[in-house]
Amino acid sequence: MTELSEQAAKVLGPLSGTATVWSLDLGLRLGLFQHLATESDGATADEAAAALDLDPQYTHVVLRAAYAAEVLDRRDDRYRLAEHMAVLLLDPDAPGYLGGAIKTFVALRETYLDLRTLASSGEREWWSDFDAEWIDAVGENGQTYYRRLLNLVVPKLPPVAAALGRGARYLDLACGVCRGPAKVVEAFPGTAVTAVDCDAYTLEVAEREMKERGLGDRFRFVHSMLEDLDIDGGHDLAVINISLHEARNIERAVERAHAALDPGGTFLVSEFPFPEREEDCRSVPGRLMCGVQFFEAHIGCQLLPTARFVELLQAAGFNDVGVVDVTPMQVVVHGTK
Ligand SMILES: C[S@@+](CC[C@H](N)C(=O)[O-])C[C@H]1O[C@@H](n2cnc3c(N)ncnc32)[C@H](O)[C@@H]1O
Repeated sequence: MTELSEQAAKVLGPLSGTATVWSLDLGLRLGLFQHLATESDGATADEAAAALDLDPQYTHVVLRAAYAAEVLDRRDDRYRLAEHMAVLLLDPDAPGYLGGAIKTFVALRETYLDLRTLASSGEREWWSDFDAEWIDAVGENGQTYYRRLLNLVVPKLPPVAAALGRGARYLDLACGVCRGPAKVVEAFPGTAVTAVDCDAYTLEVAEREMKERGLGDRFRFVHSMLEDLDIDGGHDLAVINISLHEARNIERAVERAHAALDPGGTFLVSEFPFPEREEDCRSVPGRLMCGVQFFEAHIGCQLLPTARFVELLQAAGFNDVGVVDVTPMQVVVHGTK
């Protein structure tokens, strides 16, 4: 028989996780972890507060909570980042970067709060209804999927590697704020990007950020629904990252991607591999994706299992459809026109 205390632990563990997530978000936003990364001897809470012009008590509360979560180490009152935390929390170009995931789960509060009323009314919202913080957080998280795409997937697909090496005409569908496509251009400077998104504010941010990164001339921005995309041919590669499940008409969106490629071009669908069976949601990735499903429900869709993307690409006439399992939270389904 299961003890009451064992059942209580199933609630208390996640509750402590909430405290950790918020302390990590604050530690990042206040620059505390960045500061500790530059201090070889670490810093006391008072020293960190003085260096960053913060209140000492608040600073101590954040650092102590991160220490409790084993994200920071501590010796003689001096806090320092635990092993690998500088990469996981502070390096937005690392394949294992988690700073964007932290921001995303904190920004998800907008959905949880809205659902208090929308769960009864059944009303849905759309990207243009969301706070700038959500758009930024999703872009911060999304870029890591592109880093893994470049490091782990492209080397497995020689025609894609060759096209990028030659200077590909690359279509990014549902491009968001383009931090991911920017990585592709930085890795392959000959690349020309057609970046498509339906959200005007998102495209405005993307355009500004690409100019600031000195990449403005590599991008052409197209404000369109994927389903209405009016591009016939002219691309060697089309990528859609963590977005195809959001299409209002998913078959039509894949059809338009197919149309925008030249013969021989490749379509890469990078997605969350939602478990086929509800039982398989009982895992850390399963629980995280169940969290993402709240946002997806908020905009009237849901994450889908990998098999559905394979089916969609095959139905649209893509050849040699294959799957690369990247992490338990990322799968890439690819097909050739
Ligand atoms: C989860 S975000 C991902 C953004 C980007 N791919 C990334 O990884 O950072 C989804 C993006 O898709 C856009 N989007 C969703 N459905 C769309 C549709 N049917 N047509 C065009 N854009 C769409 C949203 O505006 C949003 O910017």
